[in-house]
Order: sequence, then structure tokens, then C-alpha cells
Amino acid sequence: MSESMYGLKRTHMCTQLTVDNIGQRVTVMGWAQKRRDLGGVIFVDLRDRSGLLQVVFSVEAGEELFKKAETIRNEFVIALTGEVIKRSDETVNPNIPTGEIEIVASELRILSRAETPPFYIEENSDVNEATRLKYRYVDLRRPDMQKNLMLRHRVSKIARDYYDEKGFLEIETPMLTKSTPEGARDYLVPSRVHSGEFFALPQSPQLFKQLLMVSGFDRYFQIVKCFRDEDLRADRQPEFTQIDLEMSFVNVEDVLEVNESFIVKLFKEALGVDIESPFVRMPYKEAMERFGSDKPDIRFGLELVDLSHIVENCGFKVFSDAVKKGGSVRAINAKECGKKFSRREIDALVEHVKIYKAKGMAWIVVEENELKSPITKFFNEDEIKNILDTVKAEPGDLICFIADKNEVVFSALGELRLELARKLDLINKDQFKFLWVTEFPLLEYDEEEKRYVAKHHPFTSPMDEDMEYIETQPDKVRAKAYDIILNGNEIGGGSIRIHDQNLQTIMFKHLGFNEESAKERFGFLLEAFKYGTPPHGGLAFGLDRLVMLMTGSSSIRDVIAFPKVQNASCLMTNAPNVVDLKQLEELHIKLEEVE
Ligand code: AMO
Ligand code: AMP
Repeated sequence: MSESMYGLKRTHMCTQLTVDNIGQRVTVMGWAQKRRDLGGVIFVDLRDRSGLLQVVFSVEAGEELFKKAETIRNEFVIALTGEVIKRSDETVNPNIPTGEIEIVASELRILSRAETPPFYIEENSDVNEATRLKYRYVDLRRPDMQKNLMLRHRVSKIARDYYDEKGFLEIETPMLTKSTPEGARDYLVPSRVHSGEFFALPQSPQLFKQLLMVSGFDRYFQIVKCFRDEDLRADRQPEFTQIDLEMSFVNVEDVLEVNESFIVKLFKEALGVDIESPFVRMPYKEAMERFGSDKPDIRFGLELVDLSHIVENCGFKVFSDAVKKGGSVRAINAKECGKKFSRREIDALVEHVKIYKAKGMAWIVVEENELKSPITKFFNEDEIKNILDTVKAEPGDLICFIADKNEVVFSALGELRLELARKLDLINKDQFKFLWVTEFPLLEYDEEEKRYVAKHHPFTSPMDEDMEYIETQPDKVRAKAYDIILNGNEIGGGSIRIHDQNLQTIMFKHLGFNEESAKERFGFLLEAFKYGTPPHGGLAFGLDRLVMLMTGSSSIRDVIAFPKVQNASCLMTNAPNVVDLKQLEELHIKLEEVE
């Protein structure tokens, strides 16, 4: 039987005790991390969320107490009262905050026994993730997980305080709602009352926050759950959290400024880190051309170089054809890699870029007096000199080339750049490099669906400079859209919105909605715009990703208390699961066998 806490009151958390408490009688409670028996003395490491504290039981303190202490096992929940004493010099532990003291117990209560836990509670445990997630409540006892969730709390708290100070109001928006287009599938919830009809869980509060601007709230924010049924990765969960906000009467720069100051304050307060500001603002086109990515990691160089103009009439058909067909030939000069990499390592890079749809990767190893390469035979001397000068080649370098349509060239070289940086250990893990990527294209052509889709979302405003093309050449139009990037991760994005009903209608037309289908899906928004709409814009941070990067975790699962796994299920609760037939009947749902 477990004992009760009756008559006992906790006086301190474990690590609140220091040498200043020596001589005091205190009561602490927590989990037994470890018990060590040394003859007439038993040591127990007591753990609570603050950390560890050493407790000593000696035979002299009483046989009954000592016998009870002998029954303590790992993860028993215990309460003890005792005196704080200074540890003898030889037992001081400089590695923990309470390392100079210990408690000599005079009373022990076993509040709860524990079975042997599925794994030992320690930092940086290498237990497999499936086991950790099945026993998540035990996994969350580990100090690194506790630290992660405490930091997550701090981030939310600092965000609330910051946006409140800047005049933003936190307003909740519905979870049972209508589909919001953010590019993923919806999670649907059947309605019992309206047979055959469904709510969608929000992919974001996008439409509601715009309506709040129509209502005159001026500045809104919310720390809010969003739901997207999409393929999961280390940085994606089906339900995740945004710090979401919207502002009235603003332009792009206003939105960037207020959020950039938030980041600076957040990193200072939560991590003690000074972030350089203003952040670089880089148009999308430049980001693609220099880094092959719209979320460039700017902690290292290895930038892309365009060689199309040099090779467009060369004798190597792969190159000249690519340029003639409207694509390009670009290269990365992997400094000193000609010396460092074996032929086999170069071949591995060629295989690597093929994952990203490149048909091949040509290369030149620059040596003191010669070039080694499968392609130099196709070029004349001038062309070679021109190429080497343009990429600033020096002896020892490895030049990697990709020729294809731009989309493939950028993604393959962008990924090659990251692979090279990993191989060469160029990434400083302690650095936080932010930038804004701006001026995204408004639309993107979807080859599968054979129509335009919005690059950000359908409510994003075109840039004033490009308005002349909106009707006739919409793919030339840039948008007032921006992403905030940290170390090569997209941690947030937003835009200035369309606040004009006619422009919104043109946009819907480009996206393939006719009047009826636009009205059916977004009629309430178009209707609202008729009643006086302020110019507005906003942004949403991915809170999970932000905290992942702040904690140095490699997956957002490590900063979410109860995350889902790759196949969008929860290993602890076994959700999703089958439901009673009765529940389905009430919802007028019949199941079909899936083969
Ligand atoms: P967006 O779709 O870019 O914009 O989302 C904003 C940020 O949310 C994070 N994020 C995710 N995090 C974890 N798991 C996911 N599945 C996931 N999907 C997105 C990313 C992303 O940058 N309504 C707009 C914002 C706006 O225009 O104001 C929106 O949702 O860090
Ligand atoms: P091939 O003529 O196909 O044997 O290719 C000669 C060299 O060009 C090889 O090193 C290939 O990897 C490379 N190569 C082939 N296709 C491309 C491409 N699209 N871009 C860059 N290099 C390529």
C-alpha cells in the first residue's frame, strides 16, 4: 500500500536547496533516480523537475527507517523530511547544482511504488524512439525532455508578453470550421446534426484572422493548434502550433520589423543569445540563384554560379541543350575538395544529386598543371578558361555542374550544397542565422493538376510593381509574401493580403475557381470585404520548429509533449482507432472494406 502525504508539506524543490539551507529541516518529494547501498549507509538520488538532490539514510537514524529505505527502487515516488548538511569534501559533486549538500533523512514515506521502468531516466538516452513514444510519460521525465518543454513554455510566455505589449489582442478562432486552403489535406469531423456534412479542422486561422481585421481589432495574435493531413517529416506534424498574427494598415516592412524584434527579444530572454539585426532581406530570385533554395542556410558559402552564358554554344550537348530549352547550367566550386575527395566520393555526390532529379553531375578536379574531368574534352580553351575564372577555381578545387531546367538545377545544387557542407563540417551548430526571403512568386504552375496554385495562399497580395501583369501574365507577378528562415529552416511565413474584392476575384479565377465554387468555399470572406476592409497582413511562426532549433533538437517530436509518428498515429494512446458502431450510426456513417 502506498503511504499518504497526510500532515506533510513540501518545503522546497530539490535544487532550491543550497549551502544557505545547511542546518534547516526540510521536506522534499520526487522520484528515486537511483539507490546505492554502502553498508550502514544508503544514498538515494531524488529527482524532481528542478533536478537532483542526494539523500542519506544511516542505520543510526533508526532501524525501521533504514529498512524502509532499503525497499526503495528506481522511480518510486517518495517524500522525505530531514536536515540539510554539508557534504564531506571527498563527496562533493561539482556536476549538479546541489552537489555541495545532502539531506540526512529522518522520515520517509513511499507515496507510490513503480514497476521497473522500460528504460532508465537519463539525459541523451539512446533508447529507440518507438519505445520512448509508447511510454512517453516516462520519457518526459528525462531531463532533456523536461528542459525542452520548459523552454517551449518560456517561448510562449515571452511571445504572449511581447505581442501584448505591441498592442496585439489574443482572440480564439474556431477549431470546428470550414476548409482553409494552406496546401494540405484537411482533417474532417463528421457532423451528427447535419447528416452527410463535415467540419474541417483548421489548417491555420487564416480566414478568421482576416475577418478580425475587417471587424476592426487592428492587431490580433494567437498561439494556436493547426491541423494538416500531409506526409510527415522530422519538421512536420499533423497537428502543430503556430504563433499566428495579423495587423491592419501595414506594409511588408511593418510586419517584418515587429516580428524581427520579437525574435531578437526572444533569443535574448530565453537563451541569452544576441541576434544580429536587421536580418538580411533577400528576394526569392536571389535566394534561388545564390543558394538553390528558398530557405537558404547562410551559415556557410558554397554559392551557386551561373555558367549558362559561357556554355550555351559549347560542344557538350547536355549543357548547350539545357540552356537552349530555357534551363541553365550552374556550378558549385567545392573548395579544396578535388584534393580531399576520392573518385568514389565524387561518384557518391553524383548519386546524391540524382535523388533530386538531376540526370547527372559533371565535374572538374583542378590540379596544379592539369584538369581531371569527364567533360573537358567537349570544350575549347577559351570556354574552359572562362568557366574556371567565373567559379574562381584554384588548384585543389572540385567544380560540380548541373544542367537542366532551372527547377532541377536549383534543387539538385541546393541539396548538393548542404551535402558538401555536412561532409566538410562547415556548419557552426552554435550559430543562429536568420533571414527574410521576400518577393515570392504569386503563383506556381502545378504540372499534375495543370493549373496555377498559390505559392503562399490565395489571399496573398501581388506586388504593386507587378500589377500590370496580373490579368495577362500572372506567372510574372511577385507577391507581397515573405518567409523567415533560421539556419536553413522555414520557421514562419506570411503576406500582405488582398483586401479588394475585385482583385481577390481575379486571383480566384487564376486558381481555377469559378464564381460559384469561389462563393461556395470563401463566400463569407468575399462578402465581408464588401463592408469596409482595412489593408492588412500578417504572419505565422511554426512554434514547434522554432523551439526545435532553439533547443538544438533534430526533430519537432522532441519539443512536443505527445507527438505522432511518421504514419500519423500516436504510439501511446493508439489513436486513431476504431469506434463503436453506435457512434457511426449516429453520424450516419457506413464503413466500406478497404482492400
Ligand atoms: P504557413 O503554411 O507557411 O503559413 O505556416 C506557417 C509556419 O507554420 C509551420 N508549419 C508547420 N510546422 C509543423 N508541422 C507542420 N505540418 C507545419 N506546417 C507549417 C512552418 C511555417 O512556416 N496562414 C499562413 C500564415 C500567414 O500568411 O499569416 C500559414 O499558415 O514553420
Ligand atoms: P554522359 O555524356 O551522359 O556520359 O555524361 C558525361 C558527364 O556529364 C557525366 O559526368 C555525367 O554525370 C554528366 N552529366 C550528365 N547529365 C548531366 C546534367 N544534366 N547536368 C550535369 N552533368 C550531367
